[in-house]
Amino acid sequence: MTAKVTPGRALWINGRICRGEEATLSLFDRGARDGEGLFETLRVYDGRPFAWTRHMERLVLSAAVLGFPVPASPVTLRTALDELLRAEGLSDAVARITVTRGIPGGIVKRATRTGAWAEVEPLAARLWRGTRAGAASAIVSKRPFEPGPLGAHKTTSRLAYHLAREEARVARADEALLVSPAGEVLEGTTSNVFAVMGGEVLTPPLASGILPGITRSLVLRFCVAAGFPAREHALTVADLHVADEVFLTNSVQEIVPVARFQDRRIEDRSIAGTLLEAYRAQVARDSSDAAEG
Ligand SMILES: Cc1ncc(COP(=O)(O)O)c(C=O)c1O
Repeated sequence: MTAKVTPGRALWINGRICRGEEATLSLFDRGARDGEGLFETLRVYDGRPFAWTRHMERLVLSAAVLGFPVPASPVTLRTALDELLRAEGLSDAVARITVTRGIPGGIVKRATRTGAWAEVEPLAARLWRGTRAGAASAIVSKRPFEPGPLGAHKTTSRLAYHLAREEARVARADEALLVSPAGEVLEGTTSNVFAVMGGEVLTPPLASGILPGITRSLVLRFCVAAGFPAREHALTVADLHVADEVFLTNSVQEIVPVARFQDRRIEDRSIAGTLLEAYRAQVARDSSDAAEG
């Protein structure tokens, strides 16, 4: 979901809190010129970002693989986020941290400086209708999708995802699933997808080039703990038409059972429900660890 422009909203940009029209990025920044940026979206529960370290690892690793200059340190970004949550008076929120390839040095004999900004929004504005209702609807995007070499990184070049998301909006669905030209279901525009078939929890392989979702990896862990056999497996649209359960995962929506897939109604949500309980328990454990620490 795209952030709403709210006049007066505080953002943290390159080391300081800015509001409204002060919140600008240089036109020389490669993030602004060419979409050369990486970001993380995470959920803040009671003032504490969940799975912070995992999100920072994904960001820093992608920055290294894609040849970005070293971004602002996770400690700096965390301080920025805490400051921003205080400034906006938010405790249950969605946070986005963006780093860009920055302003090239060279001519002025200065090293390239990365850009970084952080923003927070109230949670309610970002939840899908289906998340609020406890069961979502999903369609298949009509545009075949190839993740390419950037699909495994959370880059700010989002046009392909946004076009598919627009298809979902028009169809009044929560999410559009992206399918490869060979007919493999890959992921949603902002989520990973799971299907329960023959007693197994299946999810498309990372080798297909999709985003290694943080929630996806936690769900695979919770499956082990709950005794649900789970593995990566290429899924087709036909599989989702017969699967016992289908569910979507992302850091904001958590784990959402799909109750409507295209024209199909799916009644069973029991495994997704168990996994959501495990997820919420992990969130609660992390908060109490933080309180004790
Ligand atoms: C394309 C895509 N796949 C999967 C996900 C889910 O990732 P995560 O669980 O890390 O939020 C996202 C999140 O926005 C995404 O954009």
